[in-house]
Formats: sequence, structure tokens, C-alpha cells
Amino acid sequence: MSESAQRIAVFGAGYVGLVTGACFAELGHRVTVRDILPDRIEALRRGEVPIYEPGLAEILARNAERLSFATEVAEAMEEADIVYVAVGTPPTYSGDADLSAVWTVIDELPAVERRIVVAMKSTVPVGTGEKVRHRLAARGLAHVGYVSNPEFTAEGTAVRDFMEPDRIVIGAFDEAAGDVIAALHAGIDAPIVRSDVASAEMIKLAANAALMTRISFINEIANVCEATGADVVKVAEGIGLDRRIGKSFLRAGIGFGGSCFPKDSLALKQLAANSGYHFQVLNAVIEVNELQKRRVIGKLVARLGSLRGKRIALLGLAFKPHTDDTREAPAFVLAGRLLAEGADVVAWDPVAHADGLVGVEQVATVEDAVLAADAVVLVTEWPELAEVDWAAAATSMRTAVFVDGRNMLDPRAMHDAGFRYDAIGRAASNGLT
Ligand code: UGA
Repeated sequence: MSESAQRIAVFGAGYVGLVTGACFAELGHRVTVRDILPDRIEALRRGEVPIYEPGLAEILARNAERLSFATEVAEAMEEADIVYVAVGTPPTYSGDADLSAVWTVIDELPAVERRIVVAMKSTVPVGTGEKVRHRLAARGLAHVGYVSNPEFTAEGTAVRDFMEPDRIVIGAFDEAAGDVIAALHAGIDAPIVRSDVASAEMIKLAANAALMTRISFINEIANVCEATGADVVKVAEGIGLDRRIGKSFLRAGIGFGGSCFPKDSLALKQLAANSGYHFQVLNAVIEVNELQKRRVIGKLVARLGSLRGKRIALLGLAFKPHTDDTREAPAFVLAGRLLAEGADVVAWDPVAHADGLVGVEQVATVEDAVLAADAVVLVTEWPELAEVDWAAAATSMRTAVFVDGRNMLDPRAMHDAGFRYDAIGRAASNGLT
């Protein structure tokens, strides 16, 4: 172990915990990842990676020597200088973040005499750090340092996002604890934002809220484009080149999903509301997103009339490409709505499963999905969908109707392939159909 290498215990072997643990091992630290799920830990010990995340298996294998896995707190904490909390914080019925897993970790920390630092990776409401500090002090652990070190990694690119971040945010109560966490990241070339704990907690929530706001904004522009004859893809290009606006997160579509945005938007909304503030923009962002997921139904009805008994193929179940994650995936909302309209729903996805989607038939190939279908909806922009022989697909369908929920394909090419093709906010290409 090099001099600067530390011993880290990571609590939680989900997406965030595994990526954090693997990347810190890559940086030369010794890491034990702890989870309460014995099966998960056993699998990890055997070298199996329980989630689909590009590059994660490789980085875990490459650093196997510096990585271990545990179910016991004592084992994980052995000689640990730093404790990372990376457990889930799902929404409760009230929309607040459920911090029970976080509190379990904090309460289970052994009464160490040495000075360790607890770093929070889980997304938590502003004010959580302050509460953790008091809870530790009440147990006689006031000497334990506390840092908020939020993650900005996106699924599918998590390893790269961790190793090459836009910034590292470190919010601490005392400078020394912040220095420990900053030193852990030696080897990563990125600006470090040092702040108080509450601001670091807010940076995480505000960053996600800003990204969601852009998506709902461009989706509303798309809806106005549809009503007025413009093309949102061109509009996004035209506004994105303005350096003050920027290009990213301006892809109109059928709305955002995933394990973070929907949960974090609710958590921030409730955090504001609990503090007596009505966060109007965020409320609109959430509502626009809900409506956006349902707009596809209107497009299908406009083409097919009643959807009762119609066979509709959904291409993509994951909330975005390069992940098997279907949490809050628009495909699930869409499938539910289609079933409620009396349609037969068939789905394809290269990695994600329709588990829990009662009444949806999942097939192994795009060709099987579109066969005899009345309409196809492209839900997730998997790259393989660009390679499909769409002309052949169109001839195999009962009626060649296509709704491109991600504006992935070229309207003219799809028209030439024989489809009645609709996209999101691309009225300028409607003349083709
Ligand atoms: C998001 C953030 O991008 C990360 O920075 C953050 O760390 C993470 O949440 C988190 O809080 O843990 P992620 O949910 O993995 O990451 O996925 P994104 O790539 O941000 O996509 C989210 C959703 O927005 C997807 O459904 C995607 O299809 C949609 N989206 C994204 C659009 O509809 N349009 C866009 O232009 C961009």
C-alpha cells in the first residue's frame, strides 16, 4: 500500500457503492464493500457483478487484490479510516427521502476511538449531515468527522463519470475532514468545490433539478413545435450553440425516468414544502414529465383510432440505453396506459426485463416484436435500433405506424422505409407522412 493509500469501508453494494468502491480501489486505496444482502456479497466474492454497468466488471476484476466484500459491519470497519455511506434513499409515501438505511449505517458504526471520517454518497435532504453529527455526538462519537461528498455519476457511464468528473464536491464541518476526502481523490484531475455540508447537500439536489428542468423545458418546446410547425431537433441545435445555454440535456422525448431524477425531484419538492416554500418551477417540471410520458397514446390514437385489440410493440424497456435499470422507466407507464386502452403489448430490450409488467409479452428480437404489430413505439434509444432493416420490418407489420419517442431515427428514411412516422416535436417533417 502506498503512503497516501487509505482503508475505506463502503456501506451499500448497489450502483453507487460498487462504483465508488471499485474506483477508489483503482486509485490505490484498500476498500471493503459491505451490504446486508448475503447473496449479493457472495456473488461479488465469486467475481460476479450483480448489476449491468459498462466497465464495472473490468475495474472490479483489475483491482480484486485491493477489494473485499463483507456482510458484517465489524469486518468492513477493521482498520477503516473512512466510511462511505452509499445506501438507497427511496421515496416514502409522502415523497420525502426514506433515510432508514442511512440511520442504520450510522447507528451500527462501532464506537471507535480513532478519528475516522464518514462521507455521505447517498442523496439526502439538506440538513441530514447536521442530524448525523448530532446523532454521532449523542453516542460519544463527536470526534468522528463528517463530509458530504455527493455523486454525479450517470448510469451507463458511471465509471468514467467517477474517474473523470466535471467537479468533486466536498462539504465538511471542519477543514481537516474535508482534507481527508480531498486527498482520497488524488489522481483525479477535476476542480474541487469545498463548501459547508448543507451547501454540498443542496448542490446534488440542485444539479439534478437543473438537468430535469432542461428536459421538461425542451419537451414543452417540442410540444409547441408540434402545434406550430417547427422541428425541435433543429431548435435544440440552434439554441444549444449559444454558449450560455449549452447543448446537453436538450433532447426532447417521452420524458425522463430512472432511479434518480423522479425520486430526487420529489425529495427536493418535499424538502422545500416542509420548509414552507412552494417550489413552483420544480412542480411544473414534474407535471410536464408525467404528461409527456402519456402523449404517445394520443399519437397512436390519431393514427389507429381505438387501441383496443391493437398490437403495439415497445422497443426499449430500460429508462435509457446502456443500463438494465427500469426504475421509473417511461416504458412501464406507457405499457400500463396501453394495456388500459385494451391494446396487446409486446416489448423488446437487449438487457432489461419486463418483470412485474403483467400482461406484456417480452420477445428476444426487434423482428419478433414488430411482426404483425399495428404500431411500433421507440422508447429507449438503444444503438442497435439504428441498424435495423426498417423497410423489411415495415412489410412484416399489420400497419406500418411508428412513433419515435426519442427522435432517434431520420424521418425521411423512415418515411421511405414505408412507415407513417411520428416523432416528438418534429412537425416540420410531418409533411412526409
Ligand atoms: C442522473 C444524472 O445525470 C447524474 O449526474 C446523477 O448523478 C444521477 O442522475 C443521480 O442522481 O444519481 P441517470 O439517472 O443515470 O443520471 O441518467 P441520465 O443520463 O441523466 O438520464 C436521466 C433521464 O433523462 C433518462 O430517462 C433520459 O432518457 C432522460 N433524458 C436525458 C432526456 O429525456 N433528454 C435529455 O436530453 C437527457
